[in-house]
Amino acid sequence: MAETATKKERVAKEGSHPLVAIDDGYAQTKLYGQGPDGKIVKRVLRSSVRIGSHGLGSFAGDGAIGLWQTEEGNRYTVSDEIEAEDPRFTDFHLSPINRVLVNHALSTAGFGGVQVDIVTGLPVKEFFKDQRKDEERIQRKRENLQRGAFSRSAGVEAPVLADIQVGCQAIAAYVDWALDDELKTRNDTGKTIAIVDIGGRTTDVAVVVGGRSIDHGRSGTADVGVLDVYKGVLDRVKARFELDDDSLPLSLMNEAVRTGSMQLFGRPNDVAEIVSDVVGQVQERALREIQRRLGRAATLQAVVFVGGGSALFKDIASAYPNGVMAEDPEFANARGLYKYFASRRRG
Ligand SMILES: Nc1ncnc2c1ncn2[C@@H]1O[C@H](COP(=O)(O)OP(=O)(O)OP(=O)(O)O)[C@@H](O)[C@H]1O
Ligand SMILES: [Mg+2]
Repeated sequence: MAETATKKERVAKEGSHPLVAIDDGYAQTKLYGQGPDGKIVKRVLRSSVRIGSHGLGSFAGDGAIGLWQTEEGNRYTVSDEIEAEDPRFTDFHLSPINRVLVNHALSTAGFGGVQVDIVTGLPVKEFFKDQRKDEERIQRKRENLQRGAFSRSAGVEAPVLADIQVGCQAIAAYVDWALDDELKTRNDTGKTIAIVDIGGRTTDVAVVVGGRSIDHGRSGTADVGVLDVYKGVLDRVKARFELDDDSLPLSLMNEAVRTGSMQLFGRPNDVAEIVSDVVGQVQERALREIQRRLGRAATLQAVVFVGGGSALFKDIASAYPNGVMAEDPEFANARGLYKYFASRRRG
C-alpha cells in the first residue's frame, strides 16, 4: 500500500512503469507522457460521458467509443457523438465519470492491460484549502481512481494503474513554463509569475513567488470558461434555427466555435457572427475575473496564459503588457505535471 510504503520503496515502484500525466479537465482529458513503447505520447479527448450503455458502435472498431462499468455497478458511454452529462458539477474530480474518462484516455493511448504510473490534477481551488494542500481531497481523488473501471467494449482493456499521484493544475503549467523538455530551467524562476489557466468550466489563477511559494491572496478559481461560450452559442443558435432540442453534441459546438460554421439540417450554416459575439462577451467576463485578482499586474514578471480558453481567446495575453501566451497552451498542465513528476523520479 502506498501509504505504508517507505519513500524509497515508493520511488522504486513509481520508476518501474511508464509515467503518464492526465490533465483531466471538465471539457477535455489531455494526456501527455511516456507511451508503452517509451516514446512521448500526447492525446486529447472530450470529457464527454453519458450514464448508461448507449447503442453506439464504432464501425472502425478503434475503441473511440468506450463502454465502461464501474465497481458501483453503473455503466457509462464515452463518446463525442452523444449528448454528455453536464460535467459542471462540483465533485467531478472525485466521481466515477472522472474515473471512466481517465481509464478511457489511457486505453485509447495504448495502455489497455498495461501497468502505468499516472499523475492527474485538481484545480487550484480544490488542491488547496485554508492556504495548505488539501490532503484529504487529494487522497479522495487517488482513492476514486484506485477503484478502477472495467471496459465493456470488445477488445478494449482497462489500464492497470500502479501508482497514482495528484498535482495542482495551474502550478503544473508553471512548471511547464519554467522547465524545457530536458527538464532544464528555461525561464527565470526567481521572480513572481501569474499563471492564468482558462479551461472549459474554470479560470484558474496561480501566483507563484520565487518558484516555490503561492500567493494565496491573489490565486484562486473563477467559474468561467469555454463551456460558457458553448452555452451562449447554443442558446443563440437554437433561437435562430428554431430548434426545440435541449442540447447539441459537444463535438458540434466545438466545431462551430473553431470554424464559425455549424452543420445543421445536412448542410453547413454560417454562425461566425454569433460565435464572435459570444466569444467577446465571455472573454470580457474572464478578464474581469483575472483583473479582480491581479489588478494591472504591474509588479509581476509575466502573466502566462494557458488552457484551451487561452487558445480560443487568441489576443487575451495582449490585455497585459507583460502577458505571454504559452506554447501549445492546451497541453501546458499535462506537460507540466509530467515534467514535475519525471524530474522527481530523476531525483
Ligand atoms: N484553438 C482553439 N479554438 C477554439 N477552442 C479551443 C481551442 N483550443 C482549445 N479549445 C477548446 O477550449 C476548451 C477548454 O479546453 P481545456 O482543455 O483547457 O479545458 P479543461 O481543462 O477541460 O477545463 P477545466 O480547466 O475548466 O477543467 C475545450 O472545449 C477546447 O475544445
Ligand atoms: Mg483545465
